[in-house]
Amino acid sequence: MKFFIDTANLEQIREAYDLGVLDGVTTNPSLMAKEGIKGVDNQRKHYVDICNIVQGDVSAEVIATDYEGIIREGEELAALNPHIVVKVPCIADGIKAIKYFSEKGIRTNCTLIFSVGQALLAAKAGATYVSPFVGRLDDISEDGIALVGKIVEIYRYYGYATQVLAASIRHTAHIIQCLEVGADVATCPLSAIKGLLNHPLTDAGLKKFLEDYKRVNN
Ligand code: E4P
Repeated sequence: MKFFIDTANLEQIREAYDLGVLDGVTTNPSLMAKEGIKGVDNQRKHYVDICNIVQGDVSAEVIATDYEGIIREGEELAALNPHIVVKVPCIADGIKAIKYFSEKGIRTNCTLIFSVGQALLAAKAGATYVSPFVGRLDDISEDGIALVGKIVEIYRYYGYATQVLAASIRHTAHIIQCLEVGADVATCPLSAIKGLLNHPLTDAGLKKFLEDYKRVNN
């Protein structure tokens, strides 16, 4: 399973990249706003800055919601850097645009996926990635991980090439559950990635090893 970090914060992206396990980055307009990045020029510069840190796919989301606007914005975003994946919402004009982009060789991430039906349309349109939102489904008492598993199963059964990118991951257990259901990618906050490191037996074991070493070597 590939690991993406779900942030527009350059420091966090660098920290995850330096761990040596980062395969890519996802952003969205809310994450860009959180970093205070305003205006088209600054936003595009920021995407390039992210691409310069990570040797992997970087999802940059369109703001337009009409077909012509999505095409125009998506082509501009894709031209910024070969790592850019154009993130497009799962709406009718978005699906049409994904079809266009896939015929042009522009890679896409179909976002805001909450059902198998939406994932089917995205795959048929030729999306590179589809992003089911795990945490937001859990928030309304639905089972986000179950949706990821169903999409994985259906894509494998029918041979769709679209990769399942589990998004809206909130914690470390979500990452493990994504592995269990066969997600191709999980995009996670840095805290969830670092949380994978933690185990009290590791801490206790290391403490004892170092104490024993010092006892004999000092
Ligand atoms: C990533 O592609 C999504 O935009 C993101 O994971 C949404 O996460 P949230 O539900 O925590 O905002």
